[in-house]
Amino acid sequence: MANASGFLGPSVPSLRRRAQFQRSMAIHGSGFCSPELSAKRVFCSSAIQGADKQALGDSSIESRAPRLVSKGCKLLGSGSAIPSLQVSNDDLAKIVDTSDEWISVRTGIRNRRVLSGKDSLTNLAAEAARKALEMAQVDADDVDMVLMCTSTPEDLFGSAPQIQKALGCKKYPLSYDITAACSGFVLGLVSAACHIRGGGFNNVLVIGADSLSRYVDWTDRGTCILFGDAAGAVLVQSCDAEEDGLFAFDLHSDGDGQRHLKASFTENDIDHAVGTSGAISDFPPRRSSYSCIQMNGKEVFRFACRSVPQSIESALQKAGLDGSNIDWLLLHQANQRIIDAVATRLEVPPERVISNLANYGNTSAASIPLALDEAVRSGKVKAGHMIAAAGFGAGLTWGSAIVRWG
Ligand code: ACO
Repeated sequence: MANASGFLGPSVPSLRRRAQFQRSMAIHGSGFCSPELSAKRVFCSSAIQGADKQALGDSSIESRAPRLVSKGCKLLGSGSAIPSLQVSNDDLAKIVDTSDEWISVRTGIRNRRVLSGKDSLTNLAAEAARKALEMAQVDADDVDMVLMCTSTPEDLFGSAPQIQKALGCKKYPLSYDITAACSGFVLGLVSAACHIRGGGFNNVLVIGADSLSRYVDWTDRGTCILFGDAAGAVLVQSCDAEEDGLFAFDLHSDGDGQRHLKASFTENDIDHAVGTSGAISDFPPRRSSYSCIQMNGKEVFRFACRSVPQSIESALQKAGLDGSNIDWLLLHQANQRIIDAVATRLEVPPERVISNLANYGNTSAASIPLALDEAVRSGKVKAGHMIAAAGFGAGLTWGSAIVRWG
């Protein structure tokens, strides 16, 4: 099983039946390891592919980098928080030329929550994190990393330290932001696992929180109907490699697709207070801000329906699993038609698909932990359940993770 470098190769056992899968769980902690491996140390790999190669289904440039895994991680607690202001499709029909019927038929969305007044995204994120810690029965002082997955921080330099402050984590854990739009939470989960497996961290808070309502053009009916604000969080804790709850992952980005979905940096008008007649041309720089979200909905729709099933299939294959081994399909909540198309392609029946976007719309990095938290608290998702989670969105970025709850 060892390759030239001495690492174990990414052997993918063919596990088709749940019983077989559960029997082999103990030795397949990372999802990428050989069934012969019984020691605590397991090896895993990840794949990097271009979007075009993905579209063609060409895995020839796939590069696998074996990594040593001596520790596992598990998802222990979840929490979420939403703003109090609810905006219905009918409310939107009062400000743009649209209707409840058009929005619900094309997207499945009926309501969304929007930050208002003195609401703060950071407070929302802290509330979600607090609930996750409570469910996991972990004290804030035992948190040793906070990952805030967001594309809409309230401080350009990052929001995560403000969450650490709000939670009162007295050990001053490293806290930083991850920006990967609607894929942010999946990337955060994988990052947490990497920090735990390789960096000696024990309790990592992964928060997905976004307020895209602040970057929406509320006169553009093509985008403003889609988005809402929210926060969700999960506590990821270290454990023995045999108990590892992250089985495999698959992460990608394609900057070429950015033209289909962006909120770009833009230079404002000249700041007359500073003046422009300095000795150095083009100095001082103009103040800048970000434009509203610009999206080619049809292209993003096609990209999601093509790339997400491929990513999940790739992660499942690395884990030696298929759709029948999965208890829940949990996708980024962007459009019910995308969720249905992916579920159909993976042959996952509707009763095993988690969806709550009717109530919240697309909440970007928050959508997966928000839906997960609702599913856990309602008793749908139980300890030991296998979840295929996938995010996709601006960047373009997309990715999936096969995880076990609890
Ligand atoms: N109400 C009524 N009519 C509308 C609306 C609206 N809100 N929006 C568009 N229309 C009209 C259009 O003008 C067009 O009219 P025309 O035929 O007379 O030109 C018609 O409806 C069809 O418009 P399309 O844009 O072709 O509609 P489509 O079926 O593609 O649905 C949608 C649009 C819902 C945006 C869809 O393309 C979509 O969901 N795309 C994916 C978006 C997404 O998932 N983004 C996720 C990433 S977000 C992130 O990462 C930040």
